[in-house]
Amino acid sequence: MGVGESGAALSGKRVLLVVGGGIAAVKIPDLIRRLRERGASVSPVLTRAGAEFVTPLSLSALAEEKVYTELFDLTDEAEMGHIQLSRQADIVLVAPATANLMARMVAGMADELATTVLMATDKPVMIAPAMNVRMWEHPATQRNLKQLRADGVLVAGPNEGSMACGEFGPGRMAEPLEIVDALGRHFGSGPLAGKRAIVTSGPTHEPIDPVRYIANRSSGKQGHAIARALGDLGADVVLVSGPTALPDPPGVETVHVETAVEMRDACEAALPADIAVCAAAVADWRAEAAGQKLKKQEGQPLPQLALAENPDILAGLAGRTTGRPELVIGFAAETQNVVEYATAKRKKKGCDWIVANDVSPATGTFGGDRNAVTLISAGEPETWPPMAKTEVAERLADRIAWYFGHDGPGAPE
Ligand code: CTP
Repeated sequence: MGVGESGAALSGKRVLLVVGGGIAAVKIPDLIRRLRERGASVSPVLTRAGAEFVTPLSLSALAEEKVYTELFDLTDEAEMGHIQLSRQADIVLVAPATANLMARMVAGMADELATTVLMATDKPVMIAPAMNVRMWEHPATQRNLKQLRADGVLVAGPNEGSMACGEFGPGRMAEPLEIVDALGRHFGSGPLAGKRAIVTSGPTHEPIDPVRYIANRSSGKQGHAIARALGDLGADVVLVSGPTALPDPPGVETVHVETAVEMRDACEAALPADIAVCAAAVADWRAEAAGQKLKKQEGQPLPQLALAENPDILAGLAGRTTGRPELVIGFAAETQNVVEYATAKRKKKGCDWIVANDVSPATGTFGGDRNAVTLISAGEPETWPPMAKTEVAERLADRIAWYFGHDGPGAPE
């Protein structure tokens, strides 16, 4: 989304900004400046730890608002109580959201003003996590993230990159402009604002031993383009990506996985969602991976691969009895009888729509930039003219927006 659009969406919005205690707090003055440039007002609440990184004075100078630090800032209950403070905002933004602050949110602790406000609010809450990569990947933090999502908390970032602690990986706070865009999307810029989508993309790698794996030639181009197109229409998108050479699409939360089982788990962790688009070329089978590298042994029989069937992620999402995304969309790669085979696949998988691609060698679809597609839904099949994968993505996103009741170019022709 362009800055102009997020600007329009943020104009007049009141952001209660809870500042956690991490080095990323040094980006908060810039975040405040960017929000105010777009017409939002910002009331900062510093956690005790946050006050170790930025001073109340610097934040109040930028925000031109009172900065709250302790519960006793609110002694004059007649003037402003913590309940009122938590309710007067349009959204509560927690940035940086440290591992500790996320844990306290999950536990429902109200041990200082910032956490008390988070408990008392009846407004949407968005977190921008920031922490060391190990802390981010720790099962406790991942558990907490899952719980916060299930509680309806919105998540912006984190990004991958080098960190103040000298390590590299996911855990770096999203840039101020990315947080501004995430807020803009939340406040309704785009026909899919308020909708959450899960998109799978790329191949999966199924290990044979610590150095070898089974894979396929999927590039991830189509799935990544769909994630981006849905994000551009304002959806809150989680892209679950197998190994690809593609950069993470901007404005989309990307979860990197290797195997089908990891992809399935990441999709389930990203629920609840309104939309699921399964564009990944998931390996049908996984090998029973050897713990050590398989060695050539002269005179010995060749190693045998014992294969087990992988979970069908699309069928699993479509078949959920609770928490099924309202619109579940799969892909079918066919070389002949495209409509007939894809129609049967739609039924077998229990999904709502199937995007059937003709992958006969003449089309150059696999690994290429173009795609020839037929959309199979409950109605008449629609064959789209061959077009760029990015155009297929935009057209599909428009169709999804149309499905959710918005007028637009997505209506079936
Ligand atoms: N899919 C999935 N999990 C799997 C296998 C497939 O989510 N374990 C999804 C793919 O992302 C895609 C659709 O199911 O949306 C494709 O179904 P699949 O049965 O694999 O069809 P094809 O790849 O077209 O292969 P085949 O014709 O051999 O069934």
